[in-house]
Amino acid sequence: MSETELRELAKEAASKAYAPYSKFKVGSALLTKSGNVYTGCNVENASYGLTICAERNAIASAINAEGEIEIDTIVVYTPTEKPTPPCGACRQVIHEFGNPKIKSYCEGEDSNTHTSEELLPHAFDLKKD
Ligand code: THU
Repeated sequence: MSETELRELAKEAASKAYAPYSKFKVGSALLTKSGNVYTGCNVENASYGLTICAERNAIASAINAEGEIEIDTIVVYTPTEKPTPPCGACRQVIHEFGNPKIKSYCEGEDSNTHTSEELLPHAFDLKKD
């Protein structure tokens, strides 16, 4: 799966978002180390704090479908002019599943790529090596 295809899938996922409150439709696509691809969109709630971000929904899809816990790359698409890396809660959840590459895309041309460790240094972690 190419980077362009992942980007397209993330954008397509954003079109499915349930975001009646913020109107900010986010999409995510992730590639697991075993080569499978899963997507997610943000799902908002009238009780705002219950909203789930696109990235966490993509991760939940991977686990629900195949118990996939090793993520190679996670892509996020936001409907912005500049790329927007994942929120803090999503960074902690992404950290749980390896040290994936995190790629942010938007409506504009710019994109950026970081590792999970770069975006969340000194993350909380209970796993033993
Ligand atoms: N959102 C995401 O889906 N991912 C992020 O990394 C940041 C924010 C969603 C949550 C909410 O539905 C909307 O964007 C506005 O914050």
